[in-house]
Amino acid sequence: MAHAVKVSQLTKVIKEKIIVDRISFTVDKGEVFGLLGANGSGKTTTFNMMSGLLTPSSGEVEVLGKSLKEMKKGGIPEVGMVTQQDSFYETLTVKENLEFFADQFGIPKKVSRERISDLLKRVKLTSKKNALASSLSGGMKKRLNLACSLVHDPIVIFMDEPTVGLDPVVRKEIWELLRDLHKAGKVIIFTSHYMDEVEELCDKVAIMFAGRIVDSGTPEKLKKKYKLNQMEDVFAHLIKRGV
Ligand SMILES: Nc1ncnc2c1ncn2[C@@H]1O[C@H](COP(=O)(O)OP(=O)(O)OP(=O)(O)O)[C@@H](O)[C@H]1O
Ligand SMILES: [Mg+2]
Repeated sequence: MAHAVKVSQLTKVIKEKIIVDRISFTVDKGEVFGLLGANGSGKTTTFNMMSGLLTPSSGEVEVLGKSLKEMKKGGIPEVGMVTQQDSFYETLTVKENLEFFADQFGIPKKVSRERISDLLKRVKLTSKKNALASSLSGGMKKRLNLACSLVHDPIVIFMDEPTVGLDPVVRKEIWELLRDLHKAGKVIIFTSHYMDEVEELCDKVAIMFAGRIVDSGTPEKLKKKYKLNQMEDVFAHLIKRGV
């Protein structure tokens, strides 16, 4: 079976500095993959290249058997990207934002109406649907950002720290949403600094340090390999070793 996502020797150099250094990994259909790493290790840069927002300096990204070069820059319908920084319009309402992103992907109104209503429920924003996005709290904005990236029902979903800043109850609800997307056969690749959610949700992880992948595998395999009980300890061990 072809991999859902295949990253080969992906590299980004910005102003002569190597930000992402020849990383390679694969993600299979129906897998939840965690890209972990210290602040500044190159996760967001990697995601931006994988979702078509940023052109790699070298290397290849293949999504569902197509190279990104074959796909149009930005707005690839098979891919959804939950950005680390909010990327909706502050001057539109919650519902208008969702309608805007659905329109961008040419989703018929009949389909988008139902999907938007469902997504609003999932991210607990139904009561805020007519509120201006600028008036939302930080956690609510995070949830709107998530919904905007899912409205075109992408197959491969990149989520850059989707639960940061959320209260513990909402965070667990977002886990439920991720589990449901997983059950629906979506490929989820996310970054997180919370090792509890990594253990809970990820089938496989890769740990980045200074632009390189220092190790990867299932959380179970990594814990065994380093003789540690928690992913948190594995992460700390690998990061310290990298310094
Ligand atoms: N446009 C840019 N110009 C110069 N340096 C950049 C640019 N984008 C990223 N970098 C640098 O690349 C490195 C990796 O940044 P990146 O945002 O990919 O890290 P990250 O792993 O997502 O970190 P965090 O966990 O803090 O979100 C950092 O040192 C950052 O300063
Ligand atoms: Mg980042």
